[in-house]
Amino acid sequence: MNTNKESKSSQQNRLFPDNFLWGASTSHFQIEGNRFEINNRLSDWSQWTQDPTHVADQTNADHACEFVERYASDLDLITTLNLNAFRLSLNWAAICPEPSTANELKINREMIDFYRRVLQTAKNKNIKIFVTLFHFCLPQWLAEEGGWTNEKTAYEFARFAKIAAQELGDLVDFWQTLNEPLSYAYESYINGIWPPGFKNEHTKCFRVIRNQLIGHAAAYKAIHEIENSAQVSYAVHWRSFIPRNMNNPLDLFVSYCRNKIFNHLFLMAVQSGQLPCPFPFSLFKELKNLAGPIADLKDSADFLGINYYTREICEFSSSAPFIPLGIRSDFRIMPVNALGWESCPATLLRLLTVDTRPYHKNSKGKERPIYITENGYGTRFAANLSSGDWSLRDEDRGEYLHSHLLSVYQAIKAGVNIKGYLHWSLLDNFEWAEGLQIRFGLVRIAYPSQERTLRDSARLYSEIAGSNSLINYKL
Ligand code: FCB
Repeated sequence: MNTNKESKSSQQNRLFPDNFLWGASTSHFQIEGNRFEINNRLSDWSQWTQDPTHVADQTNADHACEFVERYASDLDLITTLNLNAFRLSLNWAAICPEPSTANELKINREMIDFYRRVLQTAKNKNIKIFVTLFHFCLPQWLAEEGGWTNEKTAYEFARFAKIAAQELGDLVDFWQTLNEPLSYAYESYINGIWPPGFKNEHTKCFRVIRNQLIGHAAAYKAIHEIENSAQVSYAVHWRSFIPRNMNNPLDLFVSYCRNKIFNHLFLMAVQSGQLPCPFPFSLFKELKNLAGPIADLKDSADFLGINYYTREICEFSSSAPFIPLGIRSDFRIMPVNALGWESCPATLLRLLTVDTRPYHKNSKGKERPIYITENGYGTRFAANLSSGDWSLRDEDRGEYLHSHLLSVYQAIKAGVNIKGYLHWSLLDNFEWAEGLQIRFGLVRIAYPSQERTLRDSARLYSEIAGSNSLINYKL
């Protein structure tokens, strides 16, 4: 890292805009260890993780970070780190443990009270709150009816959004309806590593995307009907797809398709109000029939919420020529994290300044502020480690954080309206199919004791956030 060698004047230029949001992101299933949910196996994920073969290190999220009991001290950590923003998701399965009827809303008031306490605690500390409504976990009663392949889920989701806005809206600053709809559709219906575990079910996958769009649009509307000035969007997972061989037209074609589908499909739909059916999806009649206009979808994003971790090198594979979401290559150039994800801050700069530009304004020309709602670096340390020095000197994470913030800074200097950055994650947590071993936390968790310890990266981040600048880089 050559920061210390830079001239003082160039360092002084590295101030972020006033009121920039510095935050950390989480999601409920990954941190909560919610006894009510776990004891009753209320969600598809709490069911799925009962089978240890579904998780690489055979752990589960039954306890996770015990956030339900420890939220107050975890929110203290936000303040300790000089942060002013926090992102969490609501546990839909625990708030709506059974279906409502036409005459009766079935809501678990204890869970609403719990979230009111969490959000009020944050508000008392002047922490801005981002709330996600769907972060990969469905109530089991909906999963049993086909989950997002069933349009009913979209309308139940809108009902849930309305409940959330009515009960909690006064304490929420930013809403994200869905987290990473394309990652969800891909991992659950193509890759098969998340519930319901379908592999290469392209029609189902496309139906899931369509129903997520219907649900997003209806939720956006429901929240705005309650609070007209609410800031509502969703979180896109952006992954730039690079052809392994620039001179191979098939590799170019695969990366073009993956980019069009994974990165642009949802954004284009929200921009235009129509679900497009790009090639090669358009080869299939049943997929073409699913494309087209969706009610209330057009312009249903007040800001852009971008989750970015890595780029992906991809290549054509003759063994799977028609996988529209493509095949990942084993080829890597840049340094990688424990998941094999390349660190590539230049990609972040490019996506902010160039690739997402068509979505920086809505169709009427109104500017959308941009928030990076996830970005982070995963390491691997077994779940049963307890006290000791392991994993605290996390120079790689510090380097990743600093280099990606430099891209954010450069994009702001280039005129992009970025108003906040939320690092994934505040705490080590349950990393889905990878389990507890993959750790993204600024704060380490020793799971056997639940002890929290600040990593070096947390100290670095707190200096950056506290000075609102990249000046103070030192590890
Ligand atoms: C994102 C997810 C988040 C976490 C990080 C590492 O795609 O939104 O829950 O798993 O990846």
